[in-house]
Amino acid sequence: MPPVEILKDVHWVGAVDWNLRDFHGYSTERGTSYNSFLILDDKITLFDTVKKPFRSDLMHNIRRLVSPEKISYVVVNHVEMDHSGSLPEVIEAVKPEKVFCSVKGKEALLEHFHRPDWPFEVVENGQELSLGRRTVKFLETRMLHWPDSMMSYLKEDGLLISSDGFGQHWATSERFDDEVDEAELMRHSAKYYANILLPYSHLIGKLISEVKELGIPINMIACDHGLIWRKNPGRIIEAYERWSRQEPGKKALIIYDTMWQSTETMAKAIGDGLLQEGVSVKMMNLKHTHRSDALTEVLEAKALVFGSSTLNNGMLPTVADLLQYLKGLKPKNKVGAAFGSYGWSGEAVKQINEVLSAMKVELVSPGVKVKYVPDHEGLKPCLELGRKLGQAVNQSL
Ligand code: FEO
Repeated sequence: MPPVEILKDVHWVGAVDWNLRDFHGYSTERGTSYNSFLILDDKITLFDTVKKPFRSDLMHNIRRLVSPEKISYVVVNHVEMDHSGSLPEVIEAVKPEKVFCSVKGKEALLEHFHRPDWPFEVVENGQELSLGRRTVKFLETRMLHWPDSMMSYLKEDGLLISSDGFGQHWATSERFDDEVDEAELMRHSAKYYANILLPYSHLIGKLISEVKELGIPINMIACDHGLIWRKNPGRIIEAYERWSRQEPGKKALIIYDTMWQSTETMAKAIGDGLLQEGVSVKMMNLKHTHRSDALTEVLEAKALVFGSSTLNNGMLPTVADLLQYLKGLKPKNKVGAAFGSYGWSGEAVKQINEVLSAMKVELVSPGVKVKYVPDHEGLKPCLELGRKLGQAVNQSL
């Protein structure tokens, strides 16, 4: 993809990865992009690089605008390798006067690349740097998404180069929010938040409050993945505020796997009970649903209901996988329950309850187990469980 001038003298020079399908267990079924930005000013400055296999895309784009050796500064907003993987080649070609990063960024860069000879310049939160006509203000954003993370704010343009924040894993030939379908853009943004940033929600809420207190205008958000927010950056900031509060809606998610459809039959009866209480229900059979798509739905669901048949004295592997992934993402403010069919031992429900309790999900019941195949009477406790969950959802709103 060729460079795109996103503002006068500010150019996107990144790379589009159409083929990425997995990002640490997150299903990136529509690929991604690694966004780098080149500012042509008295001090020509490059913000972030791209994943190593795309280094020639980046260098080619830079050369279309300027000779690499004319670049004075390189800013590393984030050390994760999807943004710093090309740094050795960039520094070799550019020979920058300075490489700006946070204090944690310098530590992490040394631990990744072992190059103490690079011209590091550590910056502090709020520190400003003049490029000539433009001024960069560095905003430290620890844990969004790594300890080293920071964002760079261009004061004169109101442009926030936001690193991982506000991004999406979505490969497109378009570069801006107003060039793509808005509903799809928000879906990818929600998936990204749920699968990457959810555990740091408290920090995101704090960051947005701090930026509001500073009163700095944000006219454009140039994130390191996906589309640049130029039409309405407030739309994604509002969504991040809402998601960071973790205030779920009147929604329930029934996530399960099933051996011979008994657990699935139970899932349907639980769903019926929830519907009787006026709660919206989404059913997700993990044989057909990727864990990261389930997480997107977790974001706005109040009730999380997990079902598994018992296999070899435990829950099914797909359910264990989902629970392990979910636990790391630390969802808050949920009610839940477990259910499942069994043949002779039936440990799955107890094991699911243990994981949900460890995650501080409020269990509304000890769960429901059915031996082998439920008949009409056998489904009544499932219907009741659904109603109880629905009542808990309604009471919480
Ligand atoms: Fe896009 Fe945390 O890296």
